[in-house]
Amino acid sequence: MRTAIYPGSFDPITYGHVDIIKRSLAIADRVIVGVLGNSAKRPLFTASERVEQVRLAVRGLRRVEVESFDGLLVDFLRRKHGSMVIRGLRAVSDFEYEFQLALTNRRLERTAETVFLMPAERYTFLSSSVVKEIARLRGSVRGLVPPHVASALKGKHRLA
Ligand code: PNS
Repeated sequence: MRTAIYPGSFDPITYGHVDIIKRSLAIADRVIVGVLGNSAKRPLFTASERVEQVRLAVRGLRRVEVESFDGLLVDFLRRKHGSMVIRGLRAVSDFEYEFQLALTNRRLERTAETVFLMPAERYTFLSSSVVKEIARLRGSVRGLVPPHVASALKGKHRLA
């Protein structure tokens, strides 16, 4: 049983993330999406909102589970008996940070291997930050995030 952990802030989840989750099912028997709770990044959505958004986004994908985690990723990986960490690579600009993250995790846990997957080309420009910026400026995020996330973004900015 190969369990992959796909960690991230998912603030919010985009179709780029969903694409990576689907691809990871080809190399793992079970994928656990780990939503970072105590992010230093001051997320727009709370951890429980983000977990719910991810759950709805992957509804219907058997073999995918969603959980939030706090603390070190390698501890979550151990707790879940994960055999690999999945990360998406969109462009060379992602590489430096991802390389550091992967090697730090391996320094902390010798067996922690990171597998990088590339999303479909149409999502290579897409990020949670881009989506938040568009929504903040009242642009359309259709086709970039699932409809329930688009509504949640609208809700946040209506209240703001
Ligand atoms: O979607 P993101 O924000 O790029 O994801 C970053 C994430 C959650 C993978 C990374 O910040 C993380 O693993 N945080 C948990 C703490 C940790 O283990 N950090 C790495 C070693 S310092």
